[in-house]
Amino acid sequence: MAGRIKDEDVTYIRDHSPIDDVVADYVQLKNAGGGQKKGLCPFHDEKSPSFHVTPSKGYFHCFGCQVGGDVIAFIMKLEHLTFTETVERLADRIGYTLRYEAGGVSTGPSINRSRLVAANTAASNFYQEQLQLPAAQHGRDFLTKRGFDRDAAKNFNVGYAPDEWDGLYKELKGKGFTDEELNLAGLVKEGSKGGMIDRYRNRLIWPVKDISGDVVGFGARKLASDEVDTGPKYLNSPETPVYKKNAILYGLDMAKKEIAKSRQVVIVEGYTDVMAAHLAGVTTAVATCGTAFGDEHIRIIRRLLMDADAFRGEVIFTFDGDAAGQKAALRAFEDDQKFVAQTFVAVEPNGMDPCELRQAHGDDAVRNLVARRVPLFEFAIKSVIANYDITAAEGRVNALNQVAPLIGRIRDASLRPEYVRLLAGWLGMEVDIVSTAVKRSGKPADAQSDKRVNLTDPVMVLEREVLKVKLQLPTMAHSWVDLEPAAFSFPLYAELRTLIDNQKEFSTQDLLEKCEGEDLKSLITELTVEPIRTDGEVSDRYITSIFARLREVALSRSIAEIKSTLQRLNPVENDAQYQEIFGQLVGMEAARRVQKELALGES
Ligand code: CTP
Ligand code: MN
Repeated sequence: MAGRIKDEDVTYIRDHSPIDDVVADYVQLKNAGGGQKKGLCPFHDEKSPSFHVTPSKGYFHCFGCQVGGDVIAFIMKLEHLTFTETVERLADRIGYTLRYEAGGVSTGPSINRSRLVAANTAASNFYQEQLQLPAAQHGRDFLTKRGFDRDAAKNFNVGYAPDEWDGLYKELKGKGFTDEELNLAGLVKEGSKGGMIDRYRNRLIWPVKDISGDVVGFGARKLASDEVDTGPKYLNSPETPVYKKNAILYGLDMAKKEIAKSRQVVIVEGYTDVMAAHLAGVTTAVATCGTAFGDEHIRIIRRLLMDADAFRGEVIFTFDGDAAGQKAALRAFEDDQKFVAQTFVAVEPNGMDPCELRQAHGDDAVRNLVARRVPLFEFAIKSVIANYDITAAEGRVNALNQVAPLIGRIRDASLRPEYVRLLAGWLGMEVDIVSTAVKRSGKPADAQSDKRVNLTDPVMVLEREVLKVKLQLPTMAHSWVDLEPAAFSFPLYAELRTLIDNQKEFSTQDLLEKCEGEDLKSLITELTVEPIRTDGEVSDRYITSIFARLREVALSRSIAEIKSTLQRLNPVENDAQYQEIFGQLVGMEAARRVQKELALGES
């Protein structure tokens, strides 16, 4: 370790690192009067700012979490650095060369942040030079094919890692970096034959910078075929003392000012997408590096987007239209939803990413993609609906059953009626029906507690199932016309059946208009949206069996009645009548056997 930094140098660094400047790299600060500035605290989650900075005194304090201190304490805490590392970093920032106390045993330069950043910066310079050499022709071709000219590559410091075992290693050793430093920076690794080898070989290189512009890592794209290079398409830096992938956003150093100014950030998926977006004029674009967009990322963004008293602005995701993107969007309903009203999605209908879009249709197309963003909830709901054929009643009902619980889970109650209306429009269904579906979706199954329903009563459940099929899948309810007159034992269900049978042509909308009484009306909407109780798809076989079962139960009821009538008759006195009723009984029992077999699926 190097010795202690001289006290007077520490004082010098503290005095020459204005706390509001340093903090402004991480937190958007606004004047708060009285010579104070305030912003969203980077040390705890908050929606309105309680993080105060007093530039004249050089101190910060958060009234929310009670953390405070000077500029050194701020960086130590935020970057998880030691005191020495922090002072070295602040010294780097203003180009000051620190002096150390003599006397301590010096073992050469210590491993600290500035050494690792210096190694990364030297590596980036090396890679950029390599990109100009003849051996990098295929790398330059790749960039050209992606629509990036020389200037673009230069602006983003794109480089090339040569197809050698230790080209970078030799170069950086020659510049005085140690094995330990290069290893710790993730630039080299131990080879299988011992000795150090370069981590990236024959790859196109994107240097990854932190918010303040320091090079802290790399993304490296494969150029050889999969047979030759069996590694992943993109190799990213491993976790290092300066590279924490959960807190890194590629492009943030370039985009941060514009993000704060325009109150907008566009999250894209990859390095080439960030380049394409910026070149197309979407200068608020950033990307995660080989990891999902997580909590730490959103915290970083929020600090930039906050204004005088709250987080305001738009976070726009350019998801792939594919399954993974949809899954990510659906998480919106599970997360705490704090910022969901500010979250949007921009998806290119053909699944192109911004880089592909720019190549195919130019800069305008990329800007239009962002302009056509839709709210996250809308995107998530529509991607569920897209799995169904909503030109058919069955598809509409199934889609509604899937989406209703999502709307029910929107925390902001004031948004729900709006989405109910929207969903009704997207599906072409009645608002009433959608609204009922959403309301009942929120309740646990056993709490559909209205007095009419007792879901432990198997007959009631069966009657409901048959009515649901008739309402939801009318074209599959073939046996409806064969139902016995007394098929439904519950009065409200029987009433609904009569209403249905009095219709000329079946339509739920017509039923709702014709029906009298709130109970009946609400039963109709409820049964129209209650999921049919089957494990998988509703099959013909399932429908046949519940209709048969209903008829079997109804026939059993009639048979019991007939038997009791027969008991009351004297077969001698009323022989003709007895014989007639007895004949009916035999017929009914035969019919019941048929239905029983059908119900069991044995015919
Ligand atoms: N990615 C990764 N590891 C992989 C594949 C992808 O870390 N094996 C990350 C990279 O950050 C990449 C981003 O995911 O930039 C997007 O991946 P993809 O869409 O496959 O890359 P593109 O940049 O669109 O592909 P290309 O390089 O072919 O243009
Ligand atoms: Mn892509």
